Amino acid sequence: MGSGRNVAVFGAYGHTGRFVVAELRERGYVPLLLGRDRDKLLALAQAQPGLEVRPASVDDPASLDRALNGAAAVINCAGPFASTAAPLVKAALRAGLPYVDVAAEIEANVDTFAHFAERARAAGAVVVPAMAFFGGLGDLLVTTAMGDWTAADEAHIAYGLSSWHPTAGTLASGAVSAQRRDGQRVRYADGRLEYHDDELPTMEWSFPAPLGPQQVIAEFTMADVVTVPSHLAVPHVRTYMTTKAAADLFAPDPSAPTAADERGRSAQTFVVDVLVRSGDAERRAVVAGQDIYAVSAPLAVEAVDRILTGRTRATGVVSAGAAFDAPDFLRALSAHLSLHVPLDSRG
Ligand SMILES: NC(=O)c1ccc[n+]([C@@H]2O[C@H](COP(=O)([O-])OP(=O)(O)OC[C@H]3O[C@@H](n4cnc5c(N)ncnc54)[C@H](OP(=O)(O)O)[C@@H]3O)[C@@H](O)[C@H]2O)c1
Repeated sequence: MGSGRNVAVFGAYGHTGRFVVAELRERGYVPLLLGRDRDKLLALAQAQPGLEVRPASVDDPASLDRALNGAAAVINCAGPFASTAAPLVKAALRAGLPYVDVAAEIEANVDTFAHFAERARAAGAVVVPAMAFFGGLGDLLVTTAMGDWTAADEAHIAYGLSSWHPTAGTLASGAVSAQRRDGQRVRYADGRLEYHDDELPTMEWSFPAPLGPQQVIAEFTMADVVTVPSHLAVPHVRTYMTTKAAADLFAPDPSAPTAADERGRSAQTFVVDVLVRSGDAERRAVVAGQDIYAVSAPLAVEAVDRILTGRTRATGVVSAGAAFDAPDFLRALSAHLSLHVPLDSRG
């Protein structure tokens, strides 16, 4: 193979991996199907004829090296990322390939920055963690809302999800993160991650119409608390989640997402409302769309496309907002995201 259009997808047969494979094909790339289970890869290849199957394990670096042979980039969709991110980043660096993942695990995202920033920068490589709905999209929105501001006092990212049917991967990643935190909660304040046992406050958040006011859990802390401060001087980053979506996530027997349209998207809708504040001034950016898992595919694939076509602003371990022209990136996804940046916001 060896075509510049080959993109390796690790965890290709997972729920998110399948969306990524489909999106790559739609955009003229050739996905290489990587994962630890040969039978699941072969089953996927039956549904996606003509694609190469490459079994590989994070416990076997040589298998990863073989699996990445001839690829132009790798997208890691296999979570918990506490287990998969480091072996895949190392393999990508050995092969000299850009690496993008969809990790929404705060501790795993922190580890990627901490362990690989220097190595990736020295190699001139691009490593983009959390290039998905949580982490990546919020960072693109905060960066867009900031416009010409180089610093802000606070960034608020409110997730207006209509529901949340979590996948097995989401639940497993949540469990691993909770374990790594010793059951504590985490927030980002005064320029650092703070672990605590405080109750999570609930409040009302006024989403723009038509969603309107919704009850949310404040300090429902998502990966944006890693991505945003990685490149923007904002000492307080707070994320919020609609209470009803959080309740789905914590239900004793949560149900997985089911396809509701021809693209395989669920009926879940979302609004992400971002507010940045500097002194008395406020700026906003808002997007709306459908299915947080499905939309992660165009986010990750757009990132790869920009990296492979030289449209990046930085090398090393970089978040979406640092790596790309954020408003341009969001506008390029107008088929998937409807963006609104109020006039008093720049971008
Ligand atoms: N940031 C975001 O907004 C965002 C969006 C979408 C997904 N995600 C994250 O992406 C991950 C996958 O989610 P999903 O919805 O695709 O879940 P999923 O359908 O349950 O798929 C999980 C995938 O990960 C693979 N996997 C897990 N541990 C592995 C390991 N140690 N080695 C190799 N493969 C491994 C699984 O393979 P097996 O079947 O062989 O176990 C499967 O292919 C989760 O961590 C989720 O939180 C984040």
